[in-house]
Amino acid sequence: MSTHTFVGTVFETPDRHTLNHIPDALIVVQNGTIQQLIDPTKDATGYASALQAAEAAGTLTRLKKGQYFIPGLIDLHVHAPQWPQLGMALDKPLEEWLQHYTFPLEAKYKDIEFAEKSYSSLVSTLLANGTTTVAYFASIHLEASVLLARICLDKGQRAVVGRVTMDATDQCPAYYCDPSPQEALRLSESFVQQVRALPGNTKELVLPAVIPRFIPSCTDESLRGLGEIAKKYGCHVQTHCSESDWEHNYVIDRFKKHDAFALDDFGLVTRRTILAHSNHLSHEDMELIKERGAAVGHCPLSNAYFAGAIFPLRKALDMDMHVGMGTDISGGPTASVFEVCRYSLMCARVLESGTDASLVAARRSQRSGSHVSSLEAFFVATANGGISLDLKIGRIAPGYFFDVLVIDTTIPNSSLMIFEDLETPEEVFEKIVYSAAPHNITHTYVSGRLVSQR
Ligand code: GUN
Ligand code: FE
Repeated sequence: MSTHTFVGTVFETPDRHTLNHIPDALIVVQNGTIQQLIDPTKDATGYASALQAAEAAGTLTRLKKGQYFIPGLIDLHVHAPQWPQLGMALDKPLEEWLQHYTFPLEAKYKDIEFAEKSYSSLVSTLLANGTTTVAYFASIHLEASVLLARICLDKGQRAVVGRVTMDATDQCPAYYCDPSPQEALRLSESFVQQVRALPGNTKELVLPAVIPRFIPSCTDESLRGLGEIAKKYGCHVQTHCSESDWEHNYVIDRFKKHDAFALDDFGLVTRRTILAHSNHLSHEDMELIKERGAAVGHCPLSNAYFAGAIFPLRKALDMDMHVGMGTDISGGPTASVFEVCRYSLMCARVLESGTDASLVAARRSQRSGSHVSSLEAFFVATANGGISLDLKIGRIAPGYFFDVLVIDTTIPNSSLMIFEDLETPEEVFEKIVYSAAPHNITHTYVSGRLVSQR
């Protein structure tokens, strides 16, 4: 059994109204899980003896002044094969972007050497950006998809990974399409089995998912079969839901209902389902998703480019829905979940205030009361992301995995700077959410393992 002790000031958000700030907390980590978190002001004796024991055993790591522990960031929506086109072609409509840019790039992952190079670069970069857990879409290729899972395992990133199903021949190009529904299901089931059996994956650091890419890319037969695989294996489900006007209307035409209800008919809305985007949800769609305990992967930056609408985060939080943040690489041109938090704050503001300056303020508002706070955005990016994935992550508390970042506020020439004695702890936390950059993330731990360092 391996034990390590950390001492440092903790910021974490157990719920969207609460910031826990524990100066000089002592954290005992056993086999990757937080066993104890001792607040010196509450248990001075226990603190002193645990500190002494760790010092004697040589298993103590102590943060420097100006460094803080925060929970690792959770990215609920990443298209791993799109990494090489981050920051490209975002002025096109979604359907054109998919057909002319994205599908040709994703098709290249039949080349396993290309896949290895691209996926290694992606996983390392996300770890350096403080993303300790990612829900990944891979491509339709079984071998490269398993490779992505193996790279996450080797580099120590927690991940939910899925092979993407695309078997609708009228919507998918011939060069990037599953040959038949039966073959799509065979490959998807084999993927789940292979990820579960990966050597070294004994603690389920990497979990398999089934992925109907989105309803337009799938036949009824593959949707039904993927729902059956999800049930048989209890694995995660990832898909896109009511993202753009085009896609939302396509589903209404085909099924006479919205995505959430159509997916639910196929057994694809479960406690372990992540519905990316979900911008065009009705109130009934939101109630259904909440009832199933499924989650929304909120991708505000991508929504602004592709969806023509913004997911109403405030309403989802008020309904106590499960919701996490997503970069939607490469639908959003950033690898940073911190950046996504900032865009979510801005998008919620814009939804509240409106944008058309020619209208008087009272008529400009699109949806009053839509703003969210930096605390809420951080809660969505951490604890609520963990709840969304049904995993013990996103908090610094006993029973949770030690998936933790060290934020350093003393890096020279950084926009994150603290004027001692000027800021309250709440203000320091707010500054971190608004202005931490990758160079402020000096250490990334997953399950107690140091997986990235500056
Ligand atoms: N809908 C189907 N595929 C995709 C994709 O790759 N990105 C986005 N944003 N939406 C999609
Ligand atoms: Fe997406």
